[in-house]
Amino acid sequence: MATERTFSIIKPDATRRNLTGAIAAKLEEAGLRIVASKRIHMTKDQAEGFYGVHRERPFFNDLVSFMISGPVVVQVLEGENAVARNREVMGATNPENAEPGTIRKEFAESIEANSVHGSDSLENAGIEIAFFFKPEEIVG
Ligand code: TYD
Repeated sequence: MATERTFSIIKPDATRRNLTGAIAAKLEEAGLRIVASKRIHMTKDQAEGFYGVHRERPFFNDLVSFMISGPVVVQVLEGENAVARNREVMGATNPENAEPGTIRKEFAESIEANSVHGSDSLENAGIEIAFFFKPEEIVG
């Protein structure tokens, strides 16, 4: 098993309900170390760029509006198999389909307001980390 870094976002529905700490605790309990973290309010350009792969999807405009509707916490997580482990603790995109004990099952409001983002591959993790963090902001 390899030590990996992945990228996480605590989304506006979660910051609004003061769940930043509860979600961070879940990530840490899953064996992930938060090696970078900052609270930001994404610009429309940032959100559109970040979710660029979904530009043609019917939910794109609503997703961008949601992601800029309040502050988010962007994070770099480190650990053994961090990409898969984070996806596991996040749970399915639609909270109705998420396993008990996962972040989305416990906290998400809907398929859109689903509390967290996590990179879906190691390659995307590298791209997403670089989108929001300078190397010196990550302290392992
Ligand atoms: P996706 O990459 O499919 O899911 P995940 O976040 O689990 O990797 O979709 C990205 C985000 O787009 C998802 O977290 C919420 C939003 N979304 C919708 O609003 N409606 C949808 O039908 C889907 C599939 C996603």
